[in-house]
Amino acid sequence: MIKGKKVVLRALEKKDLKRCLKWVNDSEVTKDMGTSFPKSMHEEERWYEGIQKSEKRKIFAIQAGKRYIGNISLENIDYRNRKATLGIMIGELGYWNRGYGTDAIKTSLSLAFNEMNLHKVYLYVFPSNKRAIRCYKKCGFEKEGLVRDHVFKQGKYQDLLVMSVINKGGMK
Ligand SMILES: CC(C)(COP(=O)(O)OP(=O)(O)OC[C@H]1O[C@@H](n2cnc3c(N)ncnc32)[C@H](O)[C@@H]1OP(=O)(O)O)[C@@H](O)C(=O)NCCC(=O)NCCS
Repeated sequence: MIKGKKVVLRALEKKDLKRCLKWVNDSEVTKDMGTSFPKSMHEEERWYEGIQKSEKRKIFAIQAGKRYIGNISLENIDYRNRKATLGIMIGELGYWNRGYGTDAIKTSLSLAFNEMNLHKVYLYVFPSNKRAIRCYKKCGFEKEGLVRDHVFKQGKYQDLLVMSVINKGGMK
């Protein structure tokens, strides 16, 4: 387990999938994310099996005390160029805007930089997702630029903002 100030990151277990399924099928949670289709338990199980087999993906459950509130991931892990993408979903709406996302991300960055020896962590976010962008900035992410017409969602092609943080040493 990896301890942050407010959260603990632990391994995602198969028994967590029921909760994951509820979150990915909640349009309030996913409205600013890339996902578009309703998901089945079978798809969730396949996703979980894929993670177990992959060296390039790490997904952690975010635990706030006894409550499991979301997932955070480091994916596309590239050990040659020492970079990875970060993804996060706090599925429990009552835990939004209370600093849990910020703490989970800072904890993951500490793992990425201090344990995995990565150099860069980056992500894609819809420019309209102001909460996420504010949260990423608090964690040290900077805007890199826009990738144009990158995702087709809600009837139109949408740009995505690329943000990244580079390990310059000293991430605690
Ligand atoms: C995005 C997400 C990870 C952020 O986690 P969180 O725990 O809610 O975020 P935090 O409380 O740590 O930080 C949110 C910040 O955004 C601010 N904020 C909230 N709504 C905002 C808005 N509409 N405009 C600007 N800032 C906003 C909050 O006030 C807070 O900043 P502050 O601490 O300076 O006051 C979480 O809300 C989530 O999982 N959302 C759904 C899925 C998602 O969008 N994932 C990201 C996909 S790229």
